[in-house]
Amino acid sequence: MSRVSYVNGRYYPHSRVSVHVEDRGYQFADGVYEVILIKNRYLVDEEPHLDRLNRSLQSLEIAWPMKQASLKQVIKEIINKNRLKDGIVYIQITRGVAKRDHGFPKKSKPTLVITARPLSVPNLNTNNKGAKVITIPDIRWRRCDIKSVSLLPNVLGKQAAREQGAQEAWQFDEEGFVTEGTSTNAWMLDTDNNLITRYLDEAILSGVTRLTIMDIARKEGIKLVERPFTVDEAKKSKEAFFTSSTSFLTPVVQIDDVIIGNGAPGVLTAKLLASYLRYLDSPKSNTLITKVLSQMFPEAIVFDWDSTLVDNWKSIAKALNATLIEMGKDPWTESEIRQNSKRSAREAFPEIFGEDWETALSFFYEAFEKNHLIGITPLPGAKDLLEFLRKREIYLGIISNKNGSFLRKEIQKLGWGKYFKNVLGATDLDFDKPSKAIVDALFQRSNITPNRLVWFVGDAVVDLECAHLANCTPILVETGSITKKELIQWPPAKSFSSCVELESFLNNLENKTDGSKDK
Ligand code: PDD
Repeated sequence: MSRVSYVNGRYYPHSRVSVHVEDRGYQFADGVYEVILIKNRYLVDEEPHLDRLNRSLQSLEIAWPMKQASLKQVIKEIINKNRLKDGIVYIQITRGVAKRDHGFPKKSKPTLVITARPLSVPNLNTNNKGAKVITIPDIRWRRCDIKSVSLLPNVLGKQAAREQGAQEAWQFDEEGFVTEGTSTNAWMLDTDNNLITRYLDEAILSGVTRLTIMDIARKEGIKLVERPFTVDEAKKSKEAFFTSSTSFLTPVVQIDDVIIGNGAPGVLTAKLLASYLRYLDSPKSNTLITKVLSQMFPEAIVFDWDSTLVDNWKSIAKALNATLIEMGKDPWTESEIRQNSKRSAREAFPEIFGEDWETALSFFYEAFEKNHLIGITPLPGAKDLLEFLRKREIYLGIISNKNGSFLRKEIQKLGWGKYFKNVLGATDLDFDKPSKAIVDALFQRSNITPNRLVWFVGDAVVDLECAHLANCTPILVETGSITKKELIQWPPAKSFSSCVELESFLNNLENKTDGSKDK
């Protein structure tokens, strides 16, 4: 059967399709692309791919050629017309056709090209011997997070690999850290069984397969570390592999002339590959990444304390104003106090009191200690929510920027100790929210590794930021005093106006999840 491709609104026989000679993609590589895997006629991880396409387009200020919903329709049509079962869809959007001139044309219509072709996907019985990779200096530009069609260094790198009998070239930066492969993300397992892959920055593409493998690894209780690793470390690694939509998860058995492990795919690599192949075979889990954001019942919830579960701000206000007066300053209004009580005292006090901040802090603590247990009040629905979660044996923890000893006293006063497996406040550790390390510390002695099935519920941007940094699902519970603008950088996956609303959402979710289990 002959292939069918799509260009700007029409389907053509693939052998006769073309774009204009003055398309800016052709002349300047002024465009972006996506490659999506199709398994059993199903688009794998469609949403994260389209999200990334959106980010690439926005970064280059190229307009969407059509609505996302229409694009999804065209992609489905292309899969049908090509009668694809397993394969890939290639989507390319350029700035369009214009008289050759480097700057953006005043008027141009983006060019949209969609092609598809078959690709065989390995199965659990495929004998995977693993691949060799070579290492080469990374000579690309500084925005490799954009999936641009400008791929010359990648082309040269892949060619160099092929000429040396290798499947991929791992690029390294000026300090010797591996960035990524020419069309894949790079991974290694160290001798302490830490699975390491570079964190996301502008030096690498945020691989969708990388995200899925991270989710799988977390679920399987593998210790995952997002940090750059050097070529030397990779050569000393226990196991290594690379990931992409077209190479899936490919074990690496040789880096330059160094054999990795015993020269065969590593045990953990093989296990992850098997899980990934199972994932590809289960259409339901294909939407995992977006679905888990808010559509799956959480396995753990981290709560913020003040203004999320309890109201104690009057005691805070009283102690803070007493401190301001004691230190010769004017007392604050209610909104000033609310704004500042979101940060830990150790963070806010030096700014407010300068050199005398430690004196001010001890005065504040003394004043607060006198009345905080009298003023503490549970917020509406908070106790019922905690009770609901306790009955379902959901792991609950607290991370607050309130001094840890005050926090524990308040929990005890309310008789809520039974709800929380672990509680961390400011001064318990050397760091405060939004540090990701505090979330890792909370779960350290549990069998949970922070992942998207862990919800981080709070009322402030710092809670959302912390959730994002720790890879948890950020949930906002507050009455609307945070502006949309404040939420742009660290958006919540869901927002609720109270604990009552959150409980009812969880209740529905539970019924939905139970209902779909056996289907
Ligand atoms: N390449 N890094 C680079 C530089 C890539 O080009 C790719 C994908 C990846 C992996 O991304 P994902 O897991 O989303 O496929 C990482 C595609 C497949 C290509 O250029 O053909």
